[in-house]
Amino acid sequence: MKLGYTALTLLPLVGLAIAQDSYIDPDNGIQFWGTTDPVHGVTYGYTLPPLNAGYDEFIGEIVAPIEAKWVGASPAGGMLNNLLLVAWPNDGNVVFSARIARVLEGPKITSLPWTKVNASHWKWVYRCQNCITWEGANGPVSLPIDGFGASAWAYSNVAVTTPSDPASAFGQHTDFGFYGLDWSSAHVSKSQYDAWAAGETGGEPEPTPTTPVPTDPPTPTPTVAPTPYDYIVVGAGPAGLVTADRLSEAGKKVLLVERGGPSLGSTGGTYQPAWLQGTNVQTMFQDNNPFWWCKDINVFAGCILGGGTAINGGLYWYPPDSDFAPANGWPESWKNHQTHTNKLKQRIPSTDRPSTDGKAVVERLLRPIGYRDAVINDYPNFKEKVFGYSAFSFIDGKRAGPISTYYKTAVARPNLFYSPNTVVQHVVRNGSKITGVQTDNPYIGPGGFVPLTEKGRVILSSGSFGSARLLFKSGIGPKDMLDIVKGHATAGPNLPEETDWIDLPVGENVSDNPSINLVFTHPEIDAYENWAQVWSSPRQDDAAQYVKDRSGVFAHSSPRLNFWRSIEGSDKKVRWMQGTARPGAASVETEFPYNKTAIFTITTYLSTGITSRGRIGIDAALTGRALKNPWFVDPVDKETLVKGINELLSSVRFVEGLKLITPDNTTTLQNYVDSYPTGNLNSNHWVGSNSILKVVDENTKVYKTDNLFVVDASIIPSMPMGNPQGTIMATAEQAVAKILALSGGP
Ligand SMILES: Cc1cc2nc3c(=O)[nH]c(=O)nc-3n(C[C@H](O)[C@H](O)[C@H](O)COP(=O)(O)OP(=O)(O)OC[C@H]3O[C@@H](n4cnc5c(N)ncnc54)[C@H](O)[C@@H]3O)c2cc1C
Ligand SMILES: *[C@@H]1O[C@H](CO)[C@@H](O)[C@H](O)[C@H]1NC(C)=O
Ligand SMILES: *[C@@H]1O[C@H](CO)[C@@H](O)[C@H](O)[C@H]1NC(C)=O
Ligand SMILES: *[C@@H]1O[C@H](CO)[C@@H](O)[C@H](O)[C@H]1NC(C)=O
Ligand SMILES: *[C@@H]1O[C@H](CO)[C@@H](O)[C@H](O)[C@H]1NC(C)=O
Ligand SMILES: *[C@@H]1O[C@H](CO)[C@@H](O)[C@H](O)[C@H]1NC(C)=O
Repeated sequence: MKLGYTALTLLPLVGLAIAQDSYIDPDNGIQFWGTTDPVHGVTYGYTLPPLNAGYDEFIGEIVAPIEAKWVGASPAGGMLNNLLLVAWPNDGNVVFSARIARVLEGPKITSLPWTKVNASHWKWVYRCQNCITWEGANGPVSLPIDGFGASAWAYSNVAVTTPSDPASAFGQHTDFGFYGLDWSSAHVSKSQYDAWAAGETGGEPEPTPTTPVPTDPPTPTPTVAPTPYDYIVVGAGPAGLVTADRLSEAGKKVLLVERGGPSLGSTGGTYQPAWLQGTNVQTMFQDNNPFWWCKDINVFAGCILGGGTAINGGLYWYPPDSDFAPANGWPESWKNHQTHTNKLKQRIPSTDRPSTDGKAVVERLLRPIGYRDAVINDYPNFKEKVFGYSAFSFIDGKRAGPISTYYKTAVARPNLFYSPNTVVQHVVRNGSKITGVQTDNPYIGPGGFVPLTEKGRVILSSGSFGSARLLFKSGIGPKDMLDIVKGHATAGPNLPEETDWIDLPVGENVSDNPSINLVFTHPEIDAYENWAQVWSSPRQDDAAQYVKDRSGVFAHSSPRLNFWRSIEGSDKKVRWMQGTARPGAASVETEFPYNKTAIFTITTYLSTGITSRGRIGIDAALTGRALKNPWFVDPVDKETLVKGINELLSSVRFVEGLKLITPDNTTTLQNYVDSYPTGNLNSNHWVGSNSILKVVDENTKVYKTDNLFVVDASIIPSMPMGNPQGTIMATAEQAVAKILALSGGP
């Protein structure tokens, strides 16, 4: 599902990578903490007054090459309701404003004297008062100034509409990214801060307030004997966990490598809201501190044990037969998926959560247009005009999925070695034969190299972006991507000779569900303060109930009801629409007053049958990104989804008290969809970058290699019917059975 204050979990701080540096700006001597985006060359810096000194402000700067037409800095990250500071050059000056979705009144922003525009750059140094806490759509939002945060930036090479007007409209950013920032270390003394805030230079920069320097001598690089493995599985997301578990169950000697640290409490994670401390219990909701996102992929992906399943919404659907049908791009040999899907169901049974809140209202919307009620996962193939309770991969009111099941049995086996906090850089190969993997961890092999046994195999399970990038870095993929790797300072020298490059369409023809949010109000809905309080000050009774027996509101994430139907497009092709209904909303766009406590969202997605395709790849910094967005490339996809939504809205008049507030009555549905920000169409359900029969063969072996396999979302050739984690794990069950049966292996 999409990102919101909806469904995410609490996680540990262990293994957090902070992509953050402190630097002194030579123009003014100010010490800033921040980052420079290597692709666009824009620097984002912040410096803060001391903690607990009564300030509600900071100083920041943006230094951008002149090609940057506007740039935004979002200190609290890309999350909802977050302060965005936008600036651009105009006529020798820098024009700026503070926004959320609209211009924000509270913050008082002053440009400091070092702001300038010269021939090559523009630079905005600013003081941002009333900027530590601001008014979000659903109450106050604060920067985590005494802890960690994920800050974001936005960049555009398209100018704003009216450059002289600070309130100018501007289009969608052409790029964005985020990075971890340790706000707790970004403070200077009061006298120093006050001088800078008054526009004075000088003052010796304080020694950086740091954690005590360890006095132990540096650990010598270990000498480790090479330990060969039968199978090396790269990535402990849902696909990697299923694969590693089944391989070790079969007695193979397995290395499972994961770049992130622990997640759930049962795996050593300790990140909890205060109200749960002292318990070993978890909630499905997150705070505003999402350190677990991969910082080198510019869409949301979890870099932590469990991958996406450690942080996702947990919606869990058993795959219908169509998910593995030849008509949807699968080889004939895959269509009898049921034995494999059954193995998944045995390990992770789905749970739905009968509850009346919200369901009755949406039910009244759906019944008049012919939908019927069902237990969705009891009839995976029955998706025509059906609705039912949302189903989850949670067990006993706790986040579970593959982490509490497959991972648990896998790590208990002596023939499986799990290596967290370890990044695989590339596979090592001699022509078509893979000999091992190169990691950044000298403790698991000499210089980080881990060899395979004589007949050993490597399986990439690093996700749609991660596996594609690993292939590029191993000399496999389109020439334009491999040329980028070749030009990279550290990755370039590790590429095989150009004569050994393997040309395959890695990254091409990807898809993701385009999705559109509709926001309603109804007096029977409890919007639950839009979930904004669940981390810091939850409703007492619900918190107590969850602590007591893991039941109640916190025992699941926010979705309440799901529905599906098929729709024929003007091209006569059948596409499926999914709906997910939940209390609360990511954003409301209406000028009219509305009942805030009664908002709910229906997200409509287009799934199986979708014809649009995009392309993913890497940029010069090797950041994984969409090179071509996959949503609504084919106008018939858009037209079909609009048709489905129109049918849904035709029913609003049958439900007393139901009001559509986004889009409201000042715009048409067509205009709303046409002007929907492109990035918001993203559902984080990317598949297809290493499609079966295009990049991997029907046994999931990468073409033109002897012993390299890919098992994850990237091999799925077209959109599954529902949110994909169930289909991804059923894919892994079937893939690993085929790999074990394939001759020539260990
Ligand atoms: C915010 C969000 C919400 C979502 N909600 C839902 C939902 O409700 N229901 C649903 O079904 N789906 C949901 N999804 C999608 C689902 O989580 C993903 O499709 C799924 O996790 C993909 O599985 P995967 O195994 O292919 O890859 P991933 O889950 O991405 O796992 C890849 C793993 O590999 C590791 N890795 C990557 N590169 C390397 C490397 N070089 N070295 C070592 N390790 C590496 C990563 O750290 C990660 O652990 C959501 C996704 C997001 C981002
Ligand atoms: C223009 O400004 C940038 C950013 O401060 C600086 O690096 C560059 O040297 C300046 N150029 C000139 C010609 O002063
Ligand atoms: C690579 O493989 C070839 C045979 O395919 C072999 O002759 C050669 O020695 C190998 N090179 C290395 C470095 O292992
Ligand atoms: C991508 O999809 C198009 C049609 O959608 C098809 O013609 C083409 O062969 C596909 N290419 C790859 C590399 O899968
Ligand atoms: C607003 O919604 C709540 C339910 O969330 C309801 O109890 C209340 O009566 C509604 N207020 C108005 C003015 O409709
Ligand atoms: C649009 O909706 C608002 C708020 O519900 C209402 O006040 C207004 O009269 C409506 N306008 C039209 C033209 O229906």
